[in-house]
Amino acid sequence: MQHDFSDAAAFSKAFDDPARDAWQRPAEVIQLMRIEPGSVVADLGAGTGYFVSWLSRAVGERGKVLALDVEPEMIKFLGQRAQQQRLGNVVPRLVPYDDPRLEPGSVSRILIVNTWHHIDERASYAAKLAPALGPGGEVWIVDFTLDSDVGPPARFRLAPEQVVAELQGGGLHAEVVSAEQLPKQYIVRAVRR
Ligand SMILES: C[S@@+](CC[C@H](N)C(=O)[O-])C[C@H]1O[C@@H](n2cnc3c(N)ncnc32)[C@H](O)[C@@H]1O
Repeated sequence: MQHDFSDAAAFSKAFDDPARDAWQRPAEVIQLMRIEPGSVVADLGAGTGYFVSWLSRAVGERGKVLALDVEPEMIKFLGQRAQQQRLGNVVPRLVPYDDPRLEPGSVSRILIVNTWHHIDERASYAAKLAPALGPGGEVWIVDFTLDSDVGPPARFRLAPEQVVAELQGGGLHAEVVSAEQLPKQYIVRAVRR
């Protein structure tokens, strides 16, 4: 499902609404991910950068956050935001729809929040994520439950079991980490087989 995300400032009003923190619980998500200081992580579909500052803090000065998005306006927006916030370890990068363009073995975590359902040919896409993971690397997908009161229209939502199957189809080993930790979303984690 390709959606027009070009009006980054307008999307920021929703994505970066402080009220989101109450249900998105970014600190809990980051804690679950067990990110090592000094590591390289990717935020795929980084959008306006809601999670970027959290990831930046988690990896610290010696680490790096690759903030990936298909929308040039989002890349511009989050790049400016990272500069304003003096987040020197953030690398905004425009990527094509069908490829994260990550070097083999280059990242320890790939976070994908409210974005997996926008990707087409998801099993093939997962097969491109797998080789990018270094030793101990993990993909983390956070997306809206089928009955959440926020999120995309119902027809675009994916059950967590479907996300697991898509990741497995791409050669990863995946499991639902939690269906209850977040009130409106599930969390799926995948590792290389
Ligand atoms: C709903 S927003 C989520 C933004 C951010 N992750 C958040 O939680 O606030 C989805 C973002 O994914 C991007 N996107 C959509 N398809 C993508 C793809 N195939 N690869 C990378 N980014 C994609 C969109 O441009 C948009 O910025």
